[in-house]
Amino acid sequence: MTPLVGAKITALGTYVPPRLLTNDDLEKMVDTTNDWILERTGIRERHIVDKGVASSDLAFEAANAILKQRGIAPTEIETILVATVTPDMLFPSTACLVQEKLGAKGAWGFDVSAACSGFLFTLQTAVQFVQTGAHKKVLAIGADVMSSIINYEDRATCVIFGDGAGAVLVEPAEDGDPNVFIDYIHEIDGSGGCSLYMPAGGSKHPSSHETVDKKMHYVHQDGQAVFKYAVRKMAEVSEKLLQRNGLTGHDLDLFIPHQANRRIIMSAAERLGMPEDKVVINIGEYGNTTAGTIPLAMGTAREQGKLKKGSLVLLASVGAGFTVGATLLRWGAED
Ligand code: UT7
Repeated sequence: MTPLVGAKITALGTYVPPRLLTNDDLEKMVDTTNDWILERTGIRERHIVDKGVASSDLAFEAANAILKQRGIAPTEIETILVATVTPDMLFPSTACLVQEKLGAKGAWGFDVSAACSGFLFTLQTAVQFVQTGAHKKVLAIGADVMSSIINYEDRATCVIFGDGAGAVLVEPAEDGDPNVFIDYIHEIDGSGGCSLYMPAGGSKHPSSHETVDKKMHYVHQDGQAVFKYAVRKMAEVSEKLLQRNGLTGHDLDLFIPHQANRRIIMSAAERLGMPEDKVVINIGEYGNTTAGTIPLAMGTAREQGKLKKGSLVLLASVGAGFTVGATLLRWGAED
């Protein structure tokens, strides 16, 4: 479908809490080593919130940075979309909490649950609202406090995740502006539901002494199953998106993938024929922040001077669900 209006990213904001949890710290907590974590995942450290800090707090910081950057009042924001699997609470939505914190009076919005693909799904929702002409200023936010659902006695999961948030503002482009969203392919595949999930706290297993005793309120992951699926699907969906737009990896300026594991990223990059200097990897500093990884990686690319107005960028993700996403765009924000 040809959009009525081109949609573009006009600003980016990111936030991570200041406290660090390093591999050395984890060596003292569980039976692991810095060498194992670095070699198997690429992670050196991650940022972790202090007690009482929630996803809406991180989301607010990222969104507020955008308002400052663009010099716009909170009341100009029409829609707030928040991707998270760690909402402050089951309801109200984190979007409502962010709206209140920002003072975005008159906005509407909601949460999107798609785990590590949450940011891409949220971004596409924002793009649709702009492309149809329904809204002119939409915030797409990815925010997760993964430390709130991690068992720090389980070495298979606690070394991977961190806390963080990022947001972009999506606005209409002027006629003829090439720096817009180009195309996307997103998929969900519920057959992977049992490979990565949090069993308790929802309507199937409401929180109880039993669910807590059985540690069902934490992330459970079959790492190898997720790894194999992610390696296959991230490359597959990315290739399909490029092909149908008459492009190859060589045409891209940047590949900004979800940061789950350095080996998953490099395997997809190799399949796409992307040289390492065009692949954004910041998992070493942040770990896997779930919905936060892609905007945080955009921030890293911008700091490194690699993400510029007009850059042709491929975003890609695989996450719990399973959820899969690939988005092709030209970066629209001023440098
Ligand atoms: O973003 C959401 C999607 N999530 C992902 O994409 C995660 C995908 N999966 C992965 O990234 C990897 O599977 C992991 C990083 C989770 C695990 O790496 P792996 O190379 O697949 O390790 P493994 O699970 O096959 O385990 C290999 C060995 C096992 O020991 P044995 O059975 O060979 O003796 C594990 O017990 O490594 C052991 N192990 C560890 N050793 C030291 C597992 N975790 C650790 C650890 N430190 N933290």
